[in-house]
Amino acid sequence: MNSNIGVVGLSVMGMNLALNMADNGYRVSIFNRTISVVDKVMEENFHKNFTSTYSLKEFVKSLEKPRRIFLMVKSGKPVDMLIEQLIDIVEEGDIIIDGGNSFYKDTIRRTNYLKEKNINFLGVGISGGEEGARFGPAIMPGGTEEAYKYVKDIFEDISAKAYGESCCKYISEDGSGHYVKMVHNGIEYADMQLISEAYAILKNIGGLNNHEIQKVFEDWNKSELESYLIEITANIFKVKEDDGTYLLDNIMDKASQKGTGKWTNLEAIDLGVDISVISAALNARFMSNLKDERTKAENIIFKNTVGNNQDLNINLNMDRKELIKLVKNSLYISKIVSYAQGFKLLKAAEKEYSWNLNFSEIAKIFRGGCIIRAKFLNDISDAFVAESDVDNLILTKFFSNEINTGLEDLRRLLSITVQQGVPVSAMSSALGYIDTYRTSRSSANLIQAQRDYFGAHTFERLDREGSFHYEWIENNEK
Ligand code: 6PG
Repeated sequence: MNSNIGVVGLSVMGMNLALNMADNGYRVSIFNRTISVVDKVMEENFHKNFTSTYSLKEFVKSLEKPRRIFLMVKSGKPVDMLIEQLIDIVEEGDIIIDGGNSFYKDTIRRTNYLKEKNINFLGVGISGGEEGARFGPAIMPGGTEEAYKYVKDIFEDISAKAYGESCCKYISEDGSGHYVKMVHNGIEYADMQLISEAYAILKNIGGLNNHEIQKVFEDWNKSELESYLIEITANIFKVKEDDGTYLLDNIMDKASQKGTGKWTNLEAIDLGVDISVISAALNARFMSNLKDERTKAENIIFKNTVGNNQDLNINLNMDRKELIKLVKNSLYISKIVSYAQGFKLLKAAEKEYSWNLNFSEIAKIFRGGCIIRAKFLNDISDAFVAESDVDNLILTKFFSNEINTGLEDLRRLLSITVQQGVPVSAMSSALGYIDTYRTSRSSANLIQAQRDYFGAHTFERLDREGSFHYEWIENNEK
């Protein structure tokens, strides 16, 4: 009997997805460019629903029609190379699915290229790491609805379930699935950075030890902050090495990245969307890698004007419990802003690429399986249902109320971090965004005057329609 679906690329993600499909009763053909890997998988992870194949031809032949071919290879060139090889073997109507972290513009290009040959292409964002792939990831499929029909059942079966619903929902045309996954990763960066900043404050200002911080995160995970990233953070603070030291304390403070956070930021720049919290998170990773420079700088630029790096001995005028509350509320508000920025980018992309995005449903996908899964995504989903045309998530009734309730705490906390010299650029960006957004009369009038002064770029007026220029230089010299 032919297989229902085939998976090419048997690294951990590909293999786990194949196992997940096989567990769900689908017959799965497996293939890998390095043939020995196929045998290794059959030996070490044998599944009765697996069919091993040793050439692309054999692989394609083993599939029922229309063929569903799931690529789980490294994004970039390997995907194009594989598509080129497949084109000569597959038939019209077959469906090639790219489940990697591909750049959405590549997905648009590949969709159009394959369309000319009447081959369907789906660009599918998948989140959840190894564990998610094996037992239920969040899935974000983009492509034609027509082609999606052929994989819908499989995808829904293998996906995570949250609140009784599958965390796989059709997104929109061509690159939209990979786009949503890209924004997911941008938000992931922000979430992680904000949590790290909370840790820095609790440790460096609150003086909490690792055990105490562990308890705080555990506690927060029972609140509106409940999420996968808070949960794993609490777990990280439990791990000790053989010598009794905490593993976390022995890990180098340099964070790397594979590029999706960078793509999110480049895209936001292209579309002119402020995603400052996500940008701060990316910049923080860049800065983290300047370990040697930072170590030097610590002895050159002092934390305070007295000329040393001792604590400023500022009277916090609050007990630890109060500080923890401020950090919690600040984290929550900053988190809301980062998600709002992510959705704002999606809104701009929807317009730019003529997609049809359902923000409430996208929030629902994120509720399970993926890295940013969090309880408050229910509130985001509900808010987008109640106010589907809202300009910004932070303007919805629910979230504006949440922000108004905790904003004072964010201000108080940031005034302390500023005084204490503890860097919290993502939280600061969140407050900057809120204040910028809620200021109806900004200082951009001065920018316009300056532009007109040196470049005659003209300006608009508040009191009259039209475009104006003033002879600044001439009149100034008079
Ligand atoms: C996911 C993750 C995943 C991501 C890595 C690390 O949703 O499963 O987002 O896709 O690639 O977790 O990403 P960075 O190396 O960029 O931190």
